[in-house]
Amino acid sequence: MKTCIKNIREIVGIVPAGVLRKQGLEMNETGILHDAWLLMEDDRIADFGEMGTMPTDADAYIDAERGLLMPCFCDSHTHVVYVGSREGEFLDKINGLSYEEIARRGGGILNSADRLHEASDEELFEQSMARVNEMIAKGTGAIEIKSGYGLNTEDELKMLRVIKRIREHTPALVRSTFLGAHAIGRGYDHDEYVRLVAEEMIPQVVQEHLADFVDVFCDEGFFTVEDTDRILKAGEKYGMRPKIHANELAVSGGVQIGVKHEALSVDHLEKTTDAEIEALRGTMTMPTMLPGSSFFLGLPYGRAKDFIEAGLGIALASDYNPGSSPSGDMRFVMAMGCIRMRLTTVQALNAVTLNSAYAMGVSDEVGSITVGKRANLILTKPLCPSHAQSALTLIPYMYQTPFIKNVILNGKLI
Ligand code: NIG
Ligand code: FE
Repeated sequence: MKTCIKNIREIVGIVPAGVLRKQGLEMNETGILHDAWLLMEDDRIADFGEMGTMPTDADAYIDAERGLLMPCFCDSHTHVVYVGSREGEFLDKINGLSYEEIARRGGGILNSADRLHEASDEELFEQSMARVNEMIAKGTGAIEIKSGYGLNTEDELKMLRVIKRIREHTPALVRSTFLGAHAIGRGYDHDEYVRLVAEEMIPQVVQEHLADFVDVFCDEGFFTVEDTDRILKAGEKYGMRPKIHANELAVSGGVQIGVKHEALSVDHLEKTTDAEIEALRGTMTMPTMLPGSSFFLGLPYGRAKDFIEAGLGIALASDYNPGSSPSGDMRFVMAMGCIRMRLTTVQALNAVTLNSAYAMGVSDEVGSITVGKRANLILTKPLCPSHAQSALTLIPYMYQTPFIKNVILNGKLI
C-alpha cells in the first residue's frame, strides 16, 4: 500500500541514512524541504521530494493542506507503568517539602511501590496503556519504559511483564529497562537489596527476556557508585546495556560509572560539573536531560548549551512518572528545552527526535525523516509563520496551541 502525503508546507527532521545521532555543531542542522510530498509504503517512509515531482501512482493521497510534517517524538526515559497518583505529595511539595524529604518519610517511589503491589495485572496494564495512548496522541512514537516500582523480585517481574504486554498492544515502538535499583525495597537492608538486584532479579529478568536495558538510580540517598558498579557488572554478564539515573540530586559519580560501563545514556544531569562533560567526550553515551523534572521539582535545568559547545549531543525526554514529572508531553519538553535551556528550535528538535531515539537504541528505525525508517510522523494544521524561515519555531513557541492534526504510526493515521 502506497500512501502519499501531498501539499506539505515544510518537512523538517530530514536526516541521511546511517546518521544515528547528532553532536556538537551537528546539533544545529536539520534537513528541511519546502512545498513537498512524502510517500509511505506500508509502514515505512519510501520517498519524499518537492511538489513538482510528486508520484502519480500512489494508492491513496492525504492532503496536508500546507501543514508541517516532522518525525514523531521519541521519549527515551519514562516510568509510565504505575497505578494511581501521588497528588498528596504534590501538596506536600507545595507546602515546602523536597523530593528527598518526601522519600525519607517513606513516600515517593516506595509509595508507588505499595500501590503497585496491591494492584492487579489488569489494572496496571489498563492505567499504563492509557498513559501510552495519551503520549501517542501528543505525538510520541517511541517510548522507553522502566520498571522500578516493584522493588522485590515478584513485583519487578510483574511490572516488566506489563511493559511487554504494552509493547505487544501499541503501535508505538517500546523499549524496556530494568530499574530494580530505583530505591531500596521495603523490608530489605541496603546491601541485601543490592545483592538481590544483582544476583536474583537480573538473572530472572534475562531468563524471561523482559528488559533491553539496565538502569540504576545512582544518586545521593539512593544507590552509590559501588552499588551501581556491582549491578551493571551483573547486567553486563548478560549483555545488558546500561542507562543511568545520575546527578539529579547531587554530583553523584553516576556519569563516570555509566561511561565506564559504556552506558547508552546517562540521564537527569541537573547537577553537573565540567568533569562530567569531560567524562562524556568521545564516548558512545548520550547525555539525556529531563526538563520536566526540573520544572516540577524546581531543580536547575541541565547545562545543555555547555554540553553542545563541548562537542557533545544531548537528548531530551519526559521522565513521565507520578513523583517528579507527571507529564509525557514531549512538545512541552521541547518548549522547555528552548525556553529554559536556551536551545535553538533545531537543537531542541534533534534532542527530542534523533538523539532521544539513539538514547533508547532505536535511531536506526525512528527519530527522523529518512527513507527506510518507520513512517512515524506528526502532521500539523496549516502553519503560517509571520517571518520565521521555518514554521518549526511555532511548535515550541506557541507551546499550548493544538497544532497537531494527525499522528501517523507505522504508516497509519492514529
Ligand atoms: O527519574 N529520580 C528517580 N526516579 C524518577 C522519579 C520516580 C518517582 O518519584 O516516582 C525520576 O525522576
Ligand atoms: Fe527517571
